[in-house]
Amino acid sequence: MLDMFSLEGKLAIVTGSARGIGQSYAVGLAKAGATLVLVDILEDNLKETAQLIKDETGRDSKTYGIDVTDSAKINSMVKEIIAEYHKIDILVNNAGINAPKPFLEVTEDDWKKIVGVNLNSQFLMSHAVAKEMVKHNYGKIINMASVGGFMALSDTAPYNASKGGVLQLTKTMAADLSQYKLNINAICPGFIDTGLLKPSKSRDQRLQKVMDNTPLNRLGNPNDLVGACIFLASDASSYMTGTQIIVDGGMSAVAM
Ligand code: NAI
Repeated sequence: MLDMFSLEGKLAIVTGSARGIGQSYAVGLAKAGATLVLVDILEDNLKETAQLIKDETGRDSKTYGIDVTDSAKINSMVKEIIAEYHKIDILVNNAGINAPKPFLEVTEDDWKKIVGVNLNSQFLMSHAVAKEMVKHNYGKIINMASVGGFMALSDTAPYNASKGGVLQLTKTMAADLSQYKLNINAICPGFIDTGLLKPSKSRDQRLQKVMDNTPLNRLGNPNDLVGACIFLASDASSYMTGTQIIVDGGMSAVAM
């Protein structure tokens, strides 16, 4: 790995790393040299990610089976991580949920849950971790947004609103934390074939329409996003903050 992309000696937290994109990010960051702290509500599945990392790199990972909307659990986890590793270099706010529904069927509970996991958790995790990063004048925070953060994908009002919020949170954190030399950026994927798409898998026609309107003509897979994550986590992106990388097969570049 080129030196500028190396994460040797770095400590990285990835939320939502029990499966899907977060699992691929965690393995990718570990292969680039980082030690991983894996966070997810699916505690048992985290062991699978930890094992993949062990198999690929020989390194052990720490796992936390917590809900990233629970600020008390987040704060005590960060305290423990600092006691053990003395610093946090990289945070990937990846945990997210969706529950596609036409706007008129969305309940207040749907709204609170989706915005809670997708947006509030990114604030809570970033707040707890950035307080530690500023002590070292070093830190890379990567927030998972979506093309839904700047385009209207139908039947996903709370999701799109939460991801739009993530993009604004990213920009504002970049402005406020640049004095401490922190880099805060976002990744906006298009349609990636993971568990998150399951609720819409029955809607084959819709996914077919997405693929027909995607210049690269396929859904993405989690590995398609790993390079962007390593880049933003590494010193190769040290002059980038408050911005986003779109990884969508060209979908948002063309009119549907
Ligand atoms: P996924 O459903 O495969 O994985 C999400 C992970 O987050 C799961 O392991 C889940 O247990 C965890 N999680 C959910 N709620 C949690 C909570 N309260 N506390 C702790 N962990 C929690 O989904 P995928 O596709 O891997 O999504 C990862 C991120 O990428 C999400 O932020 C999602 O919004 C974003 N994204 C995904 C796209 C896609 O097409 N799959 C497109 C654009 C963005």
